[in-house]
Amino acid sequence: MSKERTIVLKFGGSVLHGEADLPLAVHEIYRYWRQGYRVLAVVSAFEGTTDELLARAEKYGPDGNDHAVATLLATGEAVTAALLSSALKRSGIHSKILAPHQVGILTEGDPLDGEIIDANIAAVDRALDGSIVIVSGFVGVNADGDTTLLGRGGTDLTALYLANSLAARCVLVKDVEGLFETNPALSTIRPRRFSTVSYKTTLERGGELVQPKAVEFAAKEKLDFEIASLGSGVSTFVGDLEDSFASDVAEELRRPLKVALLGCGVVGYGVYERLRAMPQKFEITGVVNLHRERAIERGIEPSLIRSDAVELIEGDCDVVVELIGGKFAAGQFIRHALSKGKGVVSANKALISENDVSLLELIDPRDVSFRYSAAVGGVLPALETARRLAKTSQPTVIRGIINGTSNFICGRLEDGEDFYDSIKAAQDAGFAEADPTLDIDGSDAAQKLVLLARSAFGSDIAFDDISRRGLENASGSEALSAREAGKSFRVVAECRADGGEVTASVAATSLDALDPLADIHGAENIIVFETEDGGRHVVRGRGAGRYATAEAVLGDIFDIYYETLEKDRPEYAPQLGESCQAQGATI
Ligand code: HSE
Repeated sequence: MSKERTIVLKFGGSVLHGEADLPLAVHEIYRYWRQGYRVLAVVSAFEGTTDELLARAEKYGPDGNDHAVATLLATGEAVTAALLSSALKRSGIHSKILAPHQVGILTEGDPLDGEIIDANIAAVDRALDGSIVIVSGFVGVNADGDTTLLGRGGTDLTALYLANSLAARCVLVKDVEGLFETNPALSTIRPRRFSTVSYKTTLERGGELVQPKAVEFAAKEKLDFEIASLGSGVSTFVGDLEDSFASDVAEELRRPLKVALLGCGVVGYGVYERLRAMPQKFEITGVVNLHRERAIERGIEPSLIRSDAVELIEGDCDVVVELIGGKFAAGQFIRHALSKGKGVVSANKALISENDVSLLELIDPRDVSFRYSAAVGGVLPALETARRLAKTSQPTVIRGIINGTSNFICGRLEDGEDFYDSIKAAQDAGFAEADPTLDIDGSDAAQKLVLLARSAFGSDIAFDDISRRGLENASGSEALSAREAGKSFRVVAECRADGGEVTASVAATSLDALDPLADIHGAENIIVFETEDGGRHVVRGRGAGRYATAEAVLGDIFDIYYETLEKDRPEYAPQLGESCQAQGATI
């Protein structure tokens, strides 16, 4: 992957007040990952932590041991890095933490306010090829290997230094949407936000917002960077640029996107929780759930529970999120929403794989978005990658594990467990479809192949033309023998385009240990795309379960939120990239 597709996201204590904010950082990381970026997250300690640690160090007298102070303060960053990695894992996104000695940010001078002279960029670059990478900002090492610091606000410098060395895009994520002419928190009249700003003005006006030492470094290296808030969709570009002001509506004055939620099961509740946590951006207009008492027990606000989906769709909402599953009613609701000009987000692969084209005909090209990223691969950006590759290098083969339930069962069978107990465990974990037969017999994977083939090859393959041999006839002994022979028993989905002809299959089979698909466990999914130019592109992530699927649904809702900003403000140029959308006639 080219270096232009690397992004450094810096999360400071102004946005990560505590653990409750970590899911916001996960949404931000996911947003760029699904656009095809390699993502390096540089983190600070949670808000207030550095001051608390400093106060503890100072209890032992003003002339403390600098390296002891640096070691103590660095624990703040280490805690954030570890918990962010755990939060990503919960959403099914693999990440690797690089400890300060692995990143090797070599400093000289003041041990608590050092200058960076080198870093182990090759190690960071290598790690980025395999996963999201998380690095502690603010922290370095000296030539003796002692822990050092980069001065207060030094996480900005870490992020800019690494972005410069990696030739990456860099976004400093702050608690404001960019640099303002005066501090908005201290102004009675809303100050103007810079759209572009020179290094000089940034140093004059942004001393509290960005570490001056970091801005001076960027100026010396002529490195452009952005200042943005979490999930806002707008930013200030800092660089060798003329100062200019944005004319957009300030975030706190924007109205939230109104979301109607149909269904509140495993995934629906996950989406509900996250939307409720971001009231400035999203307002839930209602939650359709036929079992009112069950919904209340689950934690849904009683005043939001509705029984009439049509009424909710026709009401005052911008987006309808369909998570009820099944084909008939869900199809009716999606059609109705699209015909009323509402945006639609769905994870309903069964329905969309049969009806995508006819549903698209309902879309008004000017206004409406229909997105279904979560229909394939959960949090894994499957359709996004297929679409992106289709634009750049013709895909020829798609091969992967795209059903978490059957993969989970394969692992259990290899361990000698009973088939039916394994199905029950997958259902309890929230991986399985309402009718698990679809997972077991390969139908769910085949539905996903229909959508993947359409995105990658631009051609339709009928579900019935996909040969299927799932786990319905598999015996536990087949899985046990595979393990004894050092192989892995897996259900592999494959689709090939050869001279305009597309063939596809889903088959339970034994894989050699070296096959990348052999190392995929539980609800993890993997897709390997091969392209005409000999390229091989691998994406992996959790394909089923509440958090992984809700993350993908939220990603689609966020994209519609950004799209709305764009409509409100023609000069806004979003970084939506190739997220999985079917907007109007563009598909
Ligand atoms: N039942 C599906 C699976 C859910 O197990 O993969 C995600 O599509």
